[in-house]
Amino acid sequence: MRSEAVAELCGLERFASAGKGRGLRALRRFAVGELLFSCPAYTAVLTASERGSHCDGCFGRKEGLSKCGRCKQAFYCDVECQKEDWPMHKLECSAMCAFGQNWNPSETVRLTARILAKQVNCNGFTIEDEELSHLGSAIFPDVALMNHSCCPNVIVTYKGTLAEVRAVKEIEPGEEVFTSYIDLLYPTEDRNNRLRDSYFFDCDCEECVTKEKDKDKLEICKLNDPPSAETVRDMIKYARNVIEEFRRAKHYKSPSELLEICELSLDKMGAVFENSNVYMLHMMYQAMGVCLYVQDWEGALRYGQKIIRPYSKHYPPYSLNVASMWLKLGRLYMALENRAAGVKALKKAIAIMEVAHGKDHPYISEIKKELEDH
Ligand SMILES: C[S@@+](CC[C@H](N)C(=O)[O-])C[C@H]1O[C@@H](n2cnc3c(N)ncnc32)[C@H](O)[C@@H]1O
Ligand SMILES: [Zn+2]
Ligand SMILES: [Zn+2]
Ligand SMILES: [Zn+2]
Repeated sequence: MRSEAVAELCGLERFASAGKGRGLRALRRFAVGELLFSCPAYTAVLTASERGSHCDGCFGRKEGLSKCGRCKQAFYCDVECQKEDWPMHKLECSAMCAFGQNWNPSETVRLTARILAKQVNCNGFTIEDEELSHLGSAIFPDVALMNHSCCPNVIVTYKGTLAEVRAVKEIEPGEEVFTSYIDLLYPTEDRNNRLRDSYFFDCDCEECVTKEKDKDKLEICKLNDPPSAETVRDMIKYARNVIEEFRRAKHYKSPSELLEICELSLDKMGAVFENSNVYMLHMMYQAMGVCLYVQDWEGALRYGQKIIRPYSKHYPPYSLNVASMWLKLGRLYMALENRAAGVKALKKAIAIMEVAHGKDHPYISEIKKELEDH
């Protein structure tokens, strides 16, 4: 679990062992007592009876381990070990809270859940429609071969349950094909937290190295008396918390309560962040979603209009997020009888989708039909 790195096999090689499938063979002499190789666990679970005496993360044995604050049933050396184990422990933490001492699945069940969760997290795909509404989840073995970059050269789209991969940049012979696993709106640190959490790696793409877009993404108000570095840092922390709070609140709060969270946070953040700041955009996007849900088209349009320009700046030139925002805007304009603006927006969506989805995708035919019907 510590590392995804496949053990470098030094002086050893994998080979096809007659009648035995793949085997390992020595390429040199190893002396008695010499280490052949070591291999970090792909995933591991600490047995229930050792809880509290060994760290759930690294299995280290030590006194005075600290408890998981939520379930109080997982124990760690320190926050480092706890952080590292969280992607796995979070699969169990809420069940441990709910069932307390009665929570007692077998180790095999727990290990299997971890293996499956890792496989599905790392290799699973969510299928979305043209407005990025969730349609379902699927496994595409070949698509899962592609590694991630925050400046990807391909985009994956879906025709029903068929995944299609199209180039969004010239790809030269010998170049690796990269897709993006995550929403590219956010600054480098947030993207890498996400990648670490779900995919267990840190990205070293050009964007992550140069962090070129981070400054625009975190744009601060231009005032005579600019906010201090500490104020900015606190506001980023607040923004990340409110994003998480809203994500949870979506499951149980009413639309008007949700809108209130958005408006309050936008007010508060607006004292420090520009409207183009990605945390502002995140909350506006959520507010737009709530407006669409309660069929407040004017409200949705107002948020969409604020979002689209900075979105186009923060995302790469061909982005499904930008295309779907133009599409939503276009459909809202059309519904509100602003045909000129509607046509313009729908055409912007089509221009991106012709590259990402291919010119003959049914979604594009549908949009073209909407253009004619109006
Ligand atoms: C969908 S798989 C991609 C194929 C994978 N390399 C393999 O061998 O099967 C996702 C995993 O690939 C690795 N990976 C993908 N992109 C990466 C990147 N930019 N840097 C480091 N590791 C990456 C991570 O281990 C991640 O969990
Ligand atoms: Zn530990
Ligand atoms: Zn816990
Ligand atoms: Zn990156």
